[in-house]
Amino acid sequence: MTEINERVVVYPGTFDPITMGHLDIINRALELFDKVVVAVARHPSKTPLFTLEERLQMIEQCFKGTDKKVEIEAVSGLLVEYAFNKGAKSIVRGLRAVSDFEYEFQLALMNRRLQRHVETVFLMTGFRWIYISSSIIKDAAQHGGDVTGLVPEHVQHNLKEKYGLT
Ligand code: COA
Repeated sequence: MTEINERVVVYPGTFDPITMGHLDIINRALELFDKVVVAVARHPSKTPLFTLEERLQMIEQCFKGTDKKVEIEAVSGLLVEYAFNKGAKSIVRGLRAVSDFEYEFQLALMNRRLQRHVETVFLMTGFRWIYISSSIIKDAAQHGGDVTGLVPEHVQHNLKEKYGLT
């Protein structure tokens, strides 16, 4: 059996693209765990705007030059198996509003059924970010809306480039 390291947590998502809300969860998780593994799902069913490589790079850029213990990896297959093999005892998910609860509840219980050694922990997203999602940011950016402060600067730039607005 893989050695379980209780201080490593996996933060999964599509991150298409990463937002200040996601970064808020990563920073909160870093206060509680030694290392956060950001697991970027391919998620072909969501038909992401950014390629997997682009999504990984955008997250990497957020932590470049910092000493934050963040590892960024693509994940395919079952998330709980990935977490278990990584030696992580837990998965972290952010909760923004009541509307997130039903889906997160389902996901957490299914994950528990699939791998009982991996627990899901929930962190409350900072109040400033409770209304944002990657989709709403993409929608605003696509129509020329200003998303300053909702995503890191380089992500804002990449969004403009994707939508041919530069
Ligand atoms: N701030 C801002 N936005 C947030 C947020 C936060 N703190 N937390 C979630 N969101 C948004 C995301 O931007 C995303 O928005 P979008 O739908 O507009 O893109 C939405 O909430 C939820 O996305 P995300 O957190 O990226 O999760 P997901 O639902 O895209 O990903 C996985 C779900 C990847 C965790 C899940 O599909 C998975 O585990 N896949 C692996 C395969 C597997 O094991 N399946 C069995 C699961 S039981």
